[in-house]
Amino acid sequence: MTAPIEDIDKIVVTEATIRKRLTELGEEINLAYEGREVAVIAIINGAIIFVADLIRQLSIPIQLDCIRVSSYRDETSPVQAPEIIDRIRLDLAGADVLLIDDILDTGNTLARVSEIIKEMGPASLKTCVLLDKHTKRSVEFEADFVGFKIPDEFVVGYGLDFAERYRQLPLIGILKPELQNPPEWA
Ligand code: IMP
Ligand code: MG
Repeated sequence: MTAPIEDIDKIVVTEATIRKRLTELGEEINLAYEGREVAVIAIINGAIIFVADLIRQLSIPIQLDCIRVSSYRDETSPVQAPEIIDRIRLDLAGADVLLIDDILDTGNTLARVSEIIKEMGPASLKTCVLLDKHTKRSVEFEADFVGFKIPDEFVVGYGLDFAERYRQLPLIGILKPELQNPPEWA
């Protein structure tokens, strides 16, 4: 088996660029919520790396919980509506909620999870994504905090997967074309 990094055809965002943007995003969020506590909700698995790094840039107090959602089977395009696999346990009534995902693509995942959170009666709800693929929205949705706008290509790394692989890569990249839909993973 080859090392995951060898399967990358093209780097879209380097490790150093991610690190720099994380500092800026942290500052933006600290400023937006100054003097308040924030309930951070991470959409996992995709957001785990981003959230882990981002919350360590925050000086405001936070509570952390996760919601586990699956919208992809092992392919490079959405094949089903987002499915909630594990629900939020934190009481969000009256809370300032910051919902975080790895990438905003069709908008279905963030729109669905936002609905669920709104039903829990938060004082406010904002969203933050590392990546925004600006071309492919099927529902109207814009995030409040965005790391990078990227072209409409399937990317992996820094939490983003293909068939649960490549999440560990410290950068965001595009897989070699011959690896994007290997028959044994379909
Ligand atoms: P949306 O519901 O279409 O906005 O997609 C959001 C979810 O799809 C994210 O949480 C990701 O898990 C997944 N996703 C969308 N685009 C990509 C990609 O380019 N690479 C890996 N996962 C992606
Ligand atoms: Mg995924």
